[in-house]
Amino acid sequence: MIAESIFKSEFDKNSVFLDRNLIMPSYIPDELPFREKQIEEVSRVIAPALKGQRPENLFIYGKVGTGKTSVSKHVMKKFNEFASNNKINAECYYVNCRTHNTVYKVLNKIAKDIYAEESFIGFPSTFIYEKILEYSKQQKHIIFILDEIDKVRDLDELMYNLTRANDELDKGSISVIGISNNVLFKDRLDARTKSSLCEKELVFPPYNAEELIEILKKRAKLAFKEGAISTSAISLAAAYAAKESGDARTAVLLLLKAGEIADRLSLNIVEDEQVKAAKSLVEEEIVLSLISTLPSQQKLVLYAIAKLSLDKKPIKSLIGLEQGVLFSGEIYEEYTRLAKKFKESIVSARWYREYISELEVYGLIITTNSGKGIKGQTRLIKLASDPTKIRDVLEKELFGN
Ligand SMILES: Nc1ncnc2c1ncn2[C@@H]1O[C@H](COP(=O)(O)OP(=O)(O)OP(=O)(O)O)[C@@H](O)[C@H]1O
Ligand SMILES: [Mg+2]
Repeated sequence: MIAESIFKSEFDKNSVFLDRNLIMPSYIPDELPFREKQIEEVSRVIAPALKGQRPENLFIYGKVGTGKTSVSKHVMKKFNEFASNNKINAECYYVNCRTHNTVYKVLNKIAKDIYAEESFIGFPSTFIYEKILEYSKQQKHIIFILDEIDKVRDLDELMYNLTRANDELDKGSISVIGISNNVLFKDRLDARTKSSLCEKELVFPPYNAEELIEILKKRAKLAFKEGAISTSAISLAAAYAAKESGDARTAVLLLLKAGEIADRLSLNIVEDEQVKAAKSLVEEEIVLSLISTLPSQQKLVLYAIAKLSLDKKPIKSLIGLEQGVLFSGEIYEEYTRLAKKFKESIVSARWYREYISELEVYGLIITTNSGKGIKGQTRLIKLASDPTKIRDVLEKELFGN
């Protein structure tokens, strides 16, 4: 009886949403304002495939939430529709490398999409690769969108395989669109991989506050009932997202959460207050989802930082006592101690510095140079958000408790 009455009251309950799904970050709207130029560029790069030529590979770079995935999927859809309507032998496939993060997994995913009925589980990657080649040899021009390509562990090998395929193909071709939000990624690539992936490059700039307002208005119109969200709440969400990062995902998530809060409170209209309440939820969600995609060595470095931030006494600096400010060297020591304890391999100091730079790019830590005085010149590092929460999440991620 209790369950039934909950279901019934949830079902009957008034909601500010017309269709909640349309304000989920995974939904790609038909219209993508302020991305016309990028849609045009990507379309131009892959269009030669429709005339039987191999498109150049393309590397797309831009910060989080700048529409890279949305634009690529939008263009892919239009491309596949055009090719199939005009009976052209060209196809575009999408792979999310966050889940398919090795050569084997990427090839497997591609083969599964190409040969819908067959399963390739258990076959070696050379076999799967040959099957893909075989398919392309039927004069097919294939484009692979490798989203979050920086997550592929053996990327040099993957790119080498996909590029060399073209030497063996005289009629069909294989091209790659690689997407990443990691600035440091490109410079870390092996020279050959870099020159092949980056034949063409395209940058997605962050959105400004006015652009985010327009984007949110359009999304709100689809997802919310008429008049169920105030103009001022939309502007506030846009302003928050623009200030943080120019990130449309944060903006969209803010509206979703604000709507959910309004529903829980049985309000008819989403106002500023609900957007404010949504802000900390969204920030937390974004930080946590970022952490979960880090490689485990980097998680361990971050864990060392969180642990030291909590355990260490405040240090004296020019502006007085500071809690949670750490020296780069002591973090590396703590990290090696933890790695030994948990029987993980230990990365070199050079890699450690790369990890630190990357954590800063992601906005998870803040670093400054100490200037002369404290232990000579050294890097000072501080966690950007609540150390207790970060430590707890990482404990769960790393050690499963
Ligand atoms: N121009 C736009 N108009 C409407 N919605 C947009 C636009 N750009 C992005 N969005 C929305 O913002 C969210 C994030 O966009 P998207 O996933 O394309 O970003 P991304 O650049 O791939 O980010 P990441 O680097 O984190 O993967 C999605 O919900 C998407 O629908
Ligand atoms: Mg994306």
